[in-house]
Amino acid sequence: MLALADFERAARRRLPRCIFGFAAHGAEDERSVRANEEALARLALVPRVLVDVGARSTRCELWGRTYSAPFGIAPMGGAALFAYRADQALAQAAADENVPFVLSAASSVPLEDIARLAPGSWYQAYLAGDHERIEALLHRLERAGIGVLVVTADVPVAANRENDLRLGFGIPVTPGPRLIADALSHPRWLAGVVLRTLLREGMPHFENFGARRGGPIVAPPSPEFRAGRDRFTWEHFRFIRDRWKGRLVLKGVLHEEDARRALDMGVDGLMLSNHGGRQLDGAVSPLRILPRMASLRGHAKLFVDGGFRRGTDVIKALAMGADFVMIGRPFLYAAAVASRAGVRQAISLLRQETDRDLALLGLTAPDQIEPSCVASDLPHIAVRCGVGGAAVWGWP
Ligand SMILES: Cc1cc2nc3c(=O)[nH]c(=O)nc-3n(C[C@H](O)[C@H](O)[C@H](O)COP(=O)(O)O)c2cc1C
Repeated sequence: MLALADFERAARRRLPRCIFGFAAHGAEDERSVRANEEALARLALVPRVLVDVGARSTRCELWGRTYSAPFGIAPMGGAALFAYRADQALAQAAADENVPFVLSAASSVPLEDIARLAPGSWYQAYLAGDHERIEALLHRLERAGIGVLVVTADVPVAANRENDLRLGFGIPVTPGPRLIADALSHPRWLAGVVLRTLLREGMPHFENFGARRGGPIVAPPSPEFRAGRDRFTWEHFRFIRDRWKGRLVLKGVLHEEDARRALDMGVDGLMLSNHGGRQLDGAVSPLRILPRMASLRGHAKLFVDGGFRRGTDVIKALAMGADFVMIGRPFLYAAAVASRAGVRQAISLLRQETDRDLALLGLTAPDQIEPSCVASDLPHIAVRCGVGGAAVWGWP
């Protein structure tokens, strides 16, 4: 394995088509998946030369903790379908390599276990517009010692994932003839992931949507699963900010007015994201709005995700104003290929690339990355705000 793309190729061979497809595909026509890739391709790096780069470090400070690199593992639900004890593998590998890990609400290991195995793990919530349920979850997180709460806001309803349906897949998992045939043609996965999980851990459940354990991942949705998410609003977000003493991050922000509102409420971080192209197809690539958001952010930290695969990609994001880059799919593929060791290797590869690329740019640390490190030919983009319809910002 020489690059993150190698894990993807290996995972494609190892996993049933529908499981690999569930991770790889985006919503509808996958315009946002491509938009993320294209935005990166339209940024060019502009190196400096004859700089002493002998003493380098990729270390990065975030909220009083020093991480080994300016990237982390994005929250991913359904990880148990990809590898035996995948949530644990991701969390422990991130802890081993000292990068942030965000446990998804749609995970199937109790968050308390993850907090014990990998202290310092973050938690991502999918919330319903229901104060009582929110408050009960906050208590659970506090008791478990979770320090960073990421609230995902871009899933008020389930996305239109035609690609999954065509492959016979959905969550909750409902085994039909296509899924069964797909599974039977991948005996290594069937034995090493499905049977091993069922025999040793039992049927995976949605453990972390709310204060209490949810239903099994093969059952029809329980109230914890999506119900009421379409009624989650700013009012609930303020309710959380008033009660949650830890760090609070809003994930899925793409509009300037939403960013302002969250910042006014005292959010600690914004995760600019189109959910890896998995939700609203056609949603703007976060990279294109990053410079404008960077000018607004004040003391809040800016995270960005969607399609970052190389050290050079990480550096481009930082040059555009991000503090940290979050990465999803490649780490899930790495878990599918070689569990904790695979994820460690993937993290290490990306860190080595970042280190080498810093040197090639004439830099010795991430905090030296600045806008002049990139030249952009991304086309002008103007977003209209609702009131008055005035175009409020452009590119760059
Ligand atoms: C299989 C899979 C499951 C995901 N589940 C969640 C989730 O439960 N919560 C969430 O906020 N984002 C979820 N995401 C989105 C990621 O957190 C992240 O925004 C996206 O994957 C980043 O793009 P990348 O995969 O191209 O790096 C998921 C992504 C994938 C691939």
